[in-house]
Amino acid sequence: MSGPLLLAVESSCDETGIALVEDGRRIHANVVASQVALHAPSGGIVPEVAARAHLRWIVPVLDEALATAGVTMRDVDGVAVTYGPGLAGSLLVGINFAKTLAWAHRKPLVPVNHLEGHLYAGWLLDPGEAEHDAPPFPLVALVVSGGHTFLVEMRDHLDYRYLGGTVDDAAGEAFDKVGRLLGLGYPGGPAISREATRATAYDRVFPRAWLRDTYDVSFSGLKTAARRIVTQARADEGLPADGREGDLAAATVAELAWGFQDSVVDVLTTKTIRAAEEVGARGIVLGGGVAANGALRARISGEAEARGLALVIPRPGLCTDNGAMIGAAGARRFAAGVRAGLELDARPSLPLARPAATSS
Ligand code: KG4
Ligand code: ZN
Repeated sequence: MSGPLLLAVESSCDETGIALVEDGRRIHANVVASQVALHAPSGGIVPEVAARAHLRWIVPVLDEALATAGVTMRDVDGVAVTYGPGLAGSLLVGINFAKTLAWAHRKPLVPVNHLEGHLYAGWLLDPGEAEHDAPPFPLVALVVSGGHTFLVEMRDHLDYRYLGGTVDDAAGEAFDKVGRLLGLGYPGGPAISREATRATAYDRVFPRAWLRDTYDVSFSGLKTAARRIVTQARADEGLPADGREGDLAAATVAELAWGFQDSVVDVLTTKTIRAAEEVGARGIVLGGGVAANGALRARISGEAEARGLALVIPRPGLCTDNGAMIGAAGARRFAAGVRAGLELDARPSLPLARPAATSS
């Protein structure tokens, strides 16, 4: 493989990520400084704390990425950076940093949509990993993260048709909120996934977030149902409703975590497979933090295999926020001639693809 080497910067939320990616596929370095421990005590991300942590860590992360890849800025062909969507203060740190690097080293600056990054993580190859086929077009891509949940059809690179998505909460947000209800701390997704593997009873059925005959989903009803089910479970164990005193039995937490996760996995898998069949896709790509979920990966793998659909799910570390995914998407934008000037600004609500103006 020999193509442009991009230095990619990701700082949209609570991970400071800088990567070196060759030709949009081969990772040479992918350093991520996670703020999970910093935000855990408050039970969620505090935007100003996140921005300050990016400011603190971005230079050491750059140094480590360059050292790992064994390159200097002279070897780099361009600087890619996430400019949205995300938290404004967090985005501004990465954008300002990338802009300054590009200016000082006279490199082109490539603006990247964070959601496009999650999607293009499916094209990445780890250092030393044998080269394998890229996802085949046409494909259906499911992006499931802490802030977004949607399905798009891709007939070619950088070409998205919005099929459907959440009309309220993102799947990751639902995991985080239910994790909090179950007293599992922040972030809820990995904790629920871990607890669910310990379940020994599977009788608590959570409602499904179907919105019939569309590719849309709604997780706010599921969240309300989860609150009701947890309150009932606490009452059954003689605990006060508010969750401040006393913990549910470990077996109950595991059972509830499994029931909630099964509901989300069922809906996401069913909608994605149906979309793939209806648009005549050859493959499916998953991306975003929730795609790190073991139950979702297993269920969708089985269903895709049964239908002869190629399935690409990045390894868990490439599903959650990282710089390499920005290098993968950035390479496509770079090849298409996309460049940003020094006026590049943060776009906290940048969409990837919008729902069709007239939906039928
Ligand atoms: O993509 P990401 O790192 O950041 C955003 O762009 O939002 O996704 C973070 C989300 C969080 O809501 C987190 O709870 C969820 O992904 N998540 C998981 C798992 N790992 C991370 N959800 C379910 N199961 C997991 N194993
Ligand atoms: Zn993300």
